[in-house]
Amino acid sequence: MPSEKCSLANKNSARGFDVIDTIKAALEAACPQTVSCADILAIASRDSAVEVGLSPGYPVFFGRRDSLTANISAANEFLPGPTLLYPELKQKFEAVGLNEVDLVALSGAHTIGRVSCRIVQLFLTDNDTNALFRENNAKVCPPNVDPFKVTNLDLTTPDTFDNKYYQNLLRGEGILRSDQVLWSTPGLINTPLVAEFAFTPFAFDLQFALSTIKMGNIQPLTGDQGEIRLNCAVANSPHASLVASQ
Ligand code: HEM
Repeated sequence: MPSEKCSLANKNSARGFDVIDTIKAALEAACPQTVSCADILAIASRDSAVEVGLSPGYPVFFGRRDSLTANISAANEFLPGPTLLYPELKQKFEAVGLNEVDLVALSGAHTIGRVSCRIVQLFLTDNDTNALFRENNAKVCPPNVDPFKVTNLDLTTPDTFDNKYYQNLLRGEGILRSDQVLWSTPGLINTPLVAEFAFTPFAFDLQFALSTIKMGNIQPLTGDQGEIRLNCAVANSPHASLVASQ
C-alpha cells in the first residue's frame, strides 16, 4: 500500500515517526490493541506543545480508530503546500471544514520546528518578506547547500511554543510563503487576527487549542469502523486480531 508518508507534502519532511512507534510499542506491551495510533498522535501533539510552552493545554477526546488503508492520492490532493497563496490555503482548509480563523491559528504551530533548505530556497525572492531576512536566509541556505539541511521556522524563539511567530509575520519574517501570506494578503479575518495573536499570547493559545480540537475531530473512524493498529506504520493484516488475541 503506497504510504501517505510519501505524499508530496510529507516526503522528506514529516519526521518523528520513531517517537510515535516507541509510544505505540509501550502501549501495546501494557494494554494490547486498545489505544489507536490516531489517538496517540492527538495526545502526543497536545503534550509536546504543552511541554514547550502551550498553556494551559486542552482536553483530548479519545475513541478514534485507525484506517484499514492509506490514500496517497488523497494526501497529494488535500494537504496544503508551502507555495500556496492565501485563497488556495483557505480553500484547502475549507474543504475539510476548517475556516480562516483555524487556518491562521493552526499555522501558529510553526512557532516551533524546522524547515529544510530546499523549501527555504523557494521563497528567497518573495517580496512580501523583508530584504534583510531574505539575505540572511540566502546565507543559511546558499545554492550549493545540502537540500535537507534544516533551519528554524521561527527565528526568534525556535523551540518555544509562543506567539513570536505572529510578531515575525508583522516584520515580514515568515519563512514559508504560506506563513507570510497570512499577514500580507489583505483580509477581513486574517490580518486582524495575525495582529491580535501577535499582541495577545493568550488569544493565540486559546484559539490554537480550539482549532486543534476541531482538526482532531475531522471525520474520525469510531465504534467498529477501522481498527486499532498494532504497528502505526502499517494496517494490520486480516489475521492480526486473531494473532493478537492468541
Ligand atoms: C497551513 C498549511 C501548512 C503548510 C503549507 C505547512 C508546511 C510546512 C512545511 C513546508 C514544513 C517544513 C518541512 C520540511 O522542510 O521538512 C512544516 C513544518 C512543520 N509544520 Fe507545517 N504546514 C502547514 C500547517 C501546519 C499545521 C496545521 C501544523 C500543526 C498544527 C503544522 C506543524 C508543523 C511543525 C511542528 C513543523 C516542524 C516539523 C519539524 O521540525 O520536524 N503545520 N510545515
